[in-house]
Amino acid sequence: MDLLKQRILEVGVVASDQVLKLDAILNHQVDPVLIMEMGKEFARLFRETRPDKVLTVESSGIPIAYTTALQLGVPMVFARRKKTLTMDQDTYSERVPSFTKGIVTDIMVSSHLLPKGERILIIDDFIANGDAARGLIKIVEKAEAELVGVGIVVEKSFQNGGKSIRERGIRVESLARIASLANGQITFD
Ligand code: G4P
Ligand code: NA
Ligand code: NA
Repeated sequence: MDLLKQRILEVGVVASDQVLKLDAILNHQVDPVLIMEMGKEFARLFRETRPDKVLTVESSGIPIAYTTALQLGVPMVFARRKKTLTMDQDTYSERVPSFTKGIVTDIMVSSHLLPKGERILIIDDFIANGDAARGLIKIVEKAEAELVGVGIVVEKSFQNGGKSIRERGIRVESLARIASLANGQITFD
């Protein structure tokens, strides 16, 4: 997605050889027009897979999953990281290590929101080692729902996440693939 790559070059901050900060458009401030274009692109890529629902994890996945779901005309569900007072007792949960934060968190989805057999499209902002995506995939599997694919805004292809999920036969589409962040330079694939 050329518009996204252009914006990444404009506002992306290379925090280290491993981490790209996109706080201006995605992870802190949100650019609604750009996020809507992402949703249109994911909808175009995955419409033929006939998703019933879009699944992401809070917080940064939410705007992208929302515009994707809006374009597809289906609901969006986000996995929570904290159990809320009102949340059902009956949840699917997974333990997920976070690459950027260096901690382990639990993500959870109320089981009634993922009926058996439903066709699920997973959307997230970044893929690094793929732990977050794997956690969501496990939740889909536990629900006996059907995963139609994974859409990622920024795939860091120098890390293993996208590759390892594709190797399982799962369709992964990313809107921008970054080959390297070495020497403070953003290099696309
Ligand atoms: P992985 O799931 O693919 O292994 O990635 P990782 O554990 O690194 O993901 C943990 C968090 O870090 C995720 O956000 C993910 O989106 C984010 N992340 C990974 N690499 C980068 C990067 O280069 N830049 C930025 N900005 N984020 C990255 P999260 O913990 O779910 O937090 P939230 O932003 O969704 O609240
Ligand atoms: Na995320
Ligand atoms: Na994030």
